[in-house]
Amino acid sequence: MTDREPILLAFCCHYCAYAAADLAGSMRLQYPENVRVLRLPCTGKVEINYLLSAFEYGADGVIVAGCLEGGCHFLEGNLRARRRVERAKEILAEIGIEPERLEMYNLSSAEGGRFAQIVSEMTERICRLGLSPLHRNGLHNDRELGNIVEQEEPTLQGEAK
Ligand code: FES
Repeated sequence: MTDREPILLAFCCHYCAYAAADLAGSMRLQYPENVRVLRLPCTGKVEINYLLSAFEYGADGVIVAGCLEGGCHFLEGNLRARRRVERAKEILAEIGIEPERLEMYNLSSAEGGRFAQIVSEMTERICRLGLSPLHRNGLHNDRELGNIVEQEEPTLQGEAK
């Protein structure tokens, strides 16, 4: 149990999870309101430091949601994201933060219900773990979100490292 709602930050691919979140809203599906959605052109844009910064800026849990495997519009962005999520989990464990606070999902744009389910499941998981020991004041505004992802124009192609 926690004394307040945990704050989740969801890095969502524009082509799938972001559309699914939109669909969930259009369908008026119920899911916890504690999730902040950050849209990216592809989850391949997610750097390890974005994931770690999300916790530094007050997230209690972080979701990375990309296209289905084989369905990434930039070929392997979602596979790259999964590798980075796994590495970030290792780093979190090394600094004493439960790696379960971070999870990668794959879904299609038609899965509004699944998006709602993912947010609900992650919220329950974080409630079981308790609030993040790094929590400050939470991710309250776009400026703080902007601190996580640099605001330069995203490069859609050829940005893979
Ligand atoms: Fe959706 Fe790459 S375009 S994860």
